[in-house]
Parts: sequence; structure tokens; C-alpha cells
Amino acid sequence: MKRDYPHLCAPLTVGRLTLRNRMLSAPMGATDITAEGTPGPRTQGFYELRAKGGAAVVTVSELVVHPETDGSQMLRLSLKTPGQLGAFTYLADAIKRHGAVASIELSHSGQYAGTYMVDKEKKGDLCQWGPSDGVRPDGMPVRALSHEQIASIVAAYGEAAALAKRAGFQMVMVHAGHGWLINQFLSPYFNKREDEYGGPLENRIRFAREVLASVRSAVGPGFPIELRISGAELFEGGYDVAEGARIAHALEDLVDLMHVSAGSYQFGFSVTHPSMFRDHGCNVHLAAEIKRHVSIPVVAIGGLSDPAQMEEIIASGQADAVAMARGLLADPELPSKVMANRGDDVVKCLRCYVCMAERAVTQTRRCAVNPLIGREFEGMDIARSPRSRKVLVVGGGIAGMVAAATAARRGHDVVLCEREGELGGILRTEAALPFKRDMYELGRTYAHLLDRLGVDVRLNTEVDAAFAERIAPDAVIVAVGSAPIPMPLPVEEGARVLSIDDLYL
Ligand SMILES: Cc1cc2nc3c(=O)[nH]c(=O)nc-3n(C[C@H](O)[C@H](O)[C@H](O)COP(=O)(O)O)c2cc1C
Ligand code: SF4
Repeated sequence: MKRDYPHLCAPLTVGRLTLRNRMLSAPMGATDITAEGTPGPRTQGFYELRAKGGAAVVTVSELVVHPETDGSQMLRLSLKTPGQLGAFTYLADAIKRHGAVASIELSHSGQYAGTYMVDKEKKGDLCQWGPSDGVRPDGMPVRALSHEQIASIVAAYGEAAALAKRAGFQMVMVHAGHGWLINQFLSPYFNKREDEYGGPLENRIRFAREVLASVRSAVGPGFPIELRISGAELFEGGYDVAEGARIAHALEDLVDLMHVSAGSYQFGFSVTHPSMFRDHGCNVHLAAEIKRHVSIPVVAIGGLSDPAQMEEIIASGQADAVAMARGLLADPELPSKVMANRGDDVVKCLRCYVCMAERAVTQTRRCAVNPLIGREFEGMDIARSPRSRKVLVVGGGIAGMVAAATAARRGHDVVLCEREGELGGILRTEAALPFKRDMYELGRTYAHLLDRLGVDVRLNTEVDAAFAERIAPDAVIVAVGSAPIPMPLPVEEGARVLSIDDLYL
């Protein structure tokens, strides 16, 4: 089959493994984690969906390697709970049975332990360990790790990697970016040590090299190790991309895949997780620069979900593969759609942060454009109905369109009526603003999907009782949207008043 996106679809050899394509599922913390630090059934459903959707690698996150000096994040996995390895094996199996490579991220938060605890009060009881003594921006004191503690953490990385392999994972990712512990050692901003772990770059990389050597000796040759780094820290006092390239070059002999992310959670959340105010692929230039300095495959990430853009990144030699986190929440089937030349069917991420906000508040995952997320365990398939019914959907905004698409996928005969001459409802208003363009495009994507699914769309059609009776549906879904509440402002006689939506339109 001639592929629309041949570079994205090409296999890639990493260590002794061959990946089925070049679209990787980046680590995203799950929410159903037991008190023992093991994955619960909803966590399994969460990762399995991405494997089923065709990603080449699914990376489970985030495994705490050294609870003695970390272990204070909420919702973190631990392989060290006696007798609990089986939960990880079931998880790895769930990924592998769909043809994806099961990987797991080994991590230590260092001085930022506890940052994402729901109960902020509890942070006060924790001790934060980092490369150097200091005080965190939130006032928490940080203590410098001793040589004994460093040696213990280095050994713990190896033990965790060995356990991950034993549990059935086929690859590990070592997290050395985003401001966590290994990044703290690499960073001239965080690392003020005066011993052999601090000062010049060859000293700041020492901890990373020891960790990677420990992991390598635990998993053996040929077992793929992916290193996640921030290509540049992108805040004042942090390292720049030139130093990022030197770091990558100095570590590449110990790893098989160089995963280039950006920034630091604490000083640039919207850089690390590019928001809608940034360009798609705004961090790819870091991967491209680092690729010039290493000979192992490089992965780019950050705000990617457009197949054409990702194809171009690989085709132009900026990276060898791409990874997505949110892109695969919005549409877990993105890789299989790309493989099947159905790139137009991809529902793209809005970069709106609902997925992150929900975890902080309710400890669930939710996605603004994918109602399945967080409910994977309850059922991933849209089952065909035993009897096809006639469904009338009133309203062609996003809710009506998703309802119509879902009903059509269930095998129903669907008529969707929209009063205006275009589908999209309120999303039509977003076309005018560059940073909201993705929201407008969401409406366009669903209009295309309805066409593909054979939904009978009737524009410029207002539904009343007589109309509904003529259609004679078995079910009516009313999705007529909402009306804004006008502000009770004094308005001069004869003044022209426009709502913001009218203005955008
Ligand atoms: C819901 C969510 C959870 C995440 N959890 C982790 C994590 O546990 N470990 C990690 O290294 N990165 C984590 N990330 C960061 C992503 O791996 C990725 O680097 C970032 O979201 C940028 O990629 P994207 O634009 O494709 O989402 C998370 C991102 C999201 C959206
Ligand atoms: S909630 Fe928003 S940012 Fe998160 S994956 Fe869905 S669309 Fe993207």
C-alpha cells in the first residue's frame, strides 16, 4: 500500500527491537494507582487504549525508583512492593498484546518531590533532596544528597530497571528532563555542588552517566534504553540548547534513543506542555539541533498531532520519530489512522489542559474532545446495537456532532439538523483567532467524520414537532447548545451592541 505518510509509518530499529512505526506514546501518569504503588485496572485500560490505537511504544509513567528520598508524589508507581510484580506484568501484557512495545519511565523528582500532592499540607512533612542545599520557590527547604545517598539512588535505578524487565517490559525510559532529579544534576541553575558531581559539564553529567550505567548493567546489552532530556531548560540560568547538545552527546553511548523534550515543570509548564498560545511543534528545533550532535535516533515531542507536520519533521531530518502525549488522549487511534491513510479522520488535541486540571481536582483523566478518556476500563469499544434505530439529532454543534457520530458508529440511521448553514455551532466563532484555530478545526474534523460515517446532515433546517414527526425517529437527541447570559449594562438608545461571538463571526 502506498502510504500518505511513509516516514511516520516506517519501522525503526532501537536496540534489539524493531518499532512498528515512528509514533510513540509519551509518558502520561495514570490515576488509578493503589496505595502500594501498583497499577489498578483503570490504569491498565488507560495505557492499553494507546497500544490498541497503534502507537509503536507505550510508555507507562511514572515509576518512583527510590522511595527513601522521593516517593512523595501522589499517584506514583513503585516496583518495590513485595509480591506486587504481577500487577506490572498484567499491564505490560495489556500493551504488548496489541503489538506495541511496553516501556516504563524511571524517575526521581529530587527537590521537587511532593509538588503535585493533592494535600498540600502534607508537603510540610516531606524532606526534599536535591543536588544542593537551598530553598524551593515555595519555601520548602532542600537538602543536598550525600555520596551514600547518590550511590543508593544509582543502584535503585538499576534495581527498578531489572524489575521492570522481569515484569515483562521491553524497554525503559530514564527521565532526565523537566526539572526532575537527573535534570537538577545536569543544570547549572540547580547544581551548585563543589564535588565531582558539580561545576563543569563533565561533572554535572556524572550522576546521569552513573544512573545509565547502572540501568544498562541491569538490563544487559541490546535492551533498549530511551533517555528523556530537556533539549534546553529555557529559563534564565538554565542550560541552553548548545549545552543540551553536549549533554546528549556525552550520554549517547549509554542509551539507544534520545527523546528531546523541553523546559522544566517549575519554570515553564507551558513550554514543556505547549499551550494553545504556542506554535505546534514549538520544541522540535531542540530535537533537530541535538540530532546534529548524536548518532542514535532522536525523538521530537511537544504539541504535535497533525500527521502532515509530523511526517515533515521526520522527512526533513529534524528527528527520527515523534512522541505524543495529549495527541493520543484526544485521539488514541491516531497512529492506526495514519497507517491506514486516514489522516483526515484524526481528532486533534486543543492544548487546553483539561486533562491535567481534572487530575489535580478529581484524580481522574478527562479529555475535552474525547469522552472515552478516563472511562477506558468501563469499555473501549463502541458496540454495534442489535437493532438499528432512526435517530434525529437536533443541533450541529460539537455535542450534536459527537452524538451523531457515536450513534452512526453504533449502526443507527442518523439525521442531524442544523439551523445555520454550517456545522460547528459555537466552534465556528473560533476561526478568527489564531490561537483558537484548533477549536474551529475540531468542528471541521467532525463535519468530515459525519460525512464519512454516512450521517444525513441537513443544514439550514430548523426542527419543530411537525418536522420531527415526518422523520419519525425512534430517538431524538436535542443538542441545541447554550445561550450567553447578557451583562446588564446600561446601553444608550440606538447603540449597536454585538456579542463577542457575533463579532468573531
Ligand atoms: C496528562 C499528562 C500527564 C503527564 N505525565 C507525565 C509523566 O508522568 N511523566 C513525564 O515524563 N511526562 C508526563 N507528561 C508530559 C508528556 O509526556 C509530554 O512531554 C508533554 O505533555 C508534551 O507533549 P504533548 O504536547 O504531546 O502533550 C504528562 C503530560 C500529560 C498531558
Ligand atoms: S483535554 Fe485538552 S489538552 Fe488535554 S488532550 Fe484533551 S484536548 Fe488535549
